[in-house]
Amino acid sequence: MRWPAHRTAVPDVPHGGEEEAENSGEAARPRRTCAACRYVETLNPERPLRTATTSELCIAELRQIHELMLLAFDNDFSDEDWEHTLGGIHFFLELGGQMVSHAAVVPRMLEVGGSMFHTGYVEGVATHPGFRSRGWGSDVVSAATAHIHATYGFGALGTSSFSFYERLGWERWSGRTFVRRVGRHEATPDEDGYVMVLRFGPSADVDTSADLSCDDRPGDLW
Ligand SMILES: CC(C)(COP(=O)(O)OP(=O)(O)OC[C@H]1O[C@@H](n2cnc3c(N)ncnc32)[C@H](O)[C@@H]1OP(=O)(O)O)[C@@H](O)C(=O)NCCC(=O)NCCS
Repeated sequence: MRWPAHRTAVPDVPHGGEEEAENSGEAARPRRTCAACRYVETLNPERPLRTATTSELCIAELRQIHELMLLAFDNDFSDEDWEHTLGGIHFFLELGGQMVSHAAVVPRMLEVGGSMFHTGYVEGVATHPGFRSRGWGSDVVSAATAHIHATYGFGALGTSSFSFYERLGWERWSGRTFVRRVGRHEATPDEDGYVMVLRFGPSADVDTSADLSCDDRPGDLW
């Protein structure tokens, strides 16, 4: 069930710490000192991209990210979609306290031709409609891509926004897609053509026209 419009599923708690705005040019960059959350790093002071695991985010930040997803996907973002966005690492940008752009990478196991790959799977990519075409979406996906290179052996995501990801080094998977269920592979023909991958290192030579399978999960499989 989708969260109601007033989103009571995430309590509206205060962030919990004082905020001070730091003027970094075009927009004030908030610095918070919330005891409940730990800000991991700011990758580039000129582009206030931040990264944190789901468990390092406080409830107010998770609520902001979820609201960004609902807004950016015009409410076509299910509870399962939200669950898929959690449990890994988040790359996001805030401007003046506004959640502007976000991408997450979660761990999955994908298989090609009998070889299993520890895969960084990209979820929850969105930019606030009022902040698009400024490079923020590319920034968060580039950070997610770099994280996959550093941490996993393969990357994947499901999308119909092919050119957006192709510019950032992603390739379309032209082979068939499957889900692994107990004792069998089940075809996911509706997903064929909508999976993109990042090949490098151990996955550099995988054949993008081969069969590709994912682990099972509730909601959208890819
Ligand atoms: C896709 C999205 C994240 C891009 O965010 P952004 O901050 O505007 O991205 P950037 O500014 O870095 O890049 C924008 C460029 O990406 C490309 N692009 C944007 N949306 C695209 C789409 N749906 N399909 C293909 N290319 C797209 C365009 O070339 C665009 O250039 P423009 O300046 O000519 O418009 C944003 O449009 C969005 O939130 N869309 C709704 C949710 C969504 O579709 N998420 C990703 C798919 S899983």
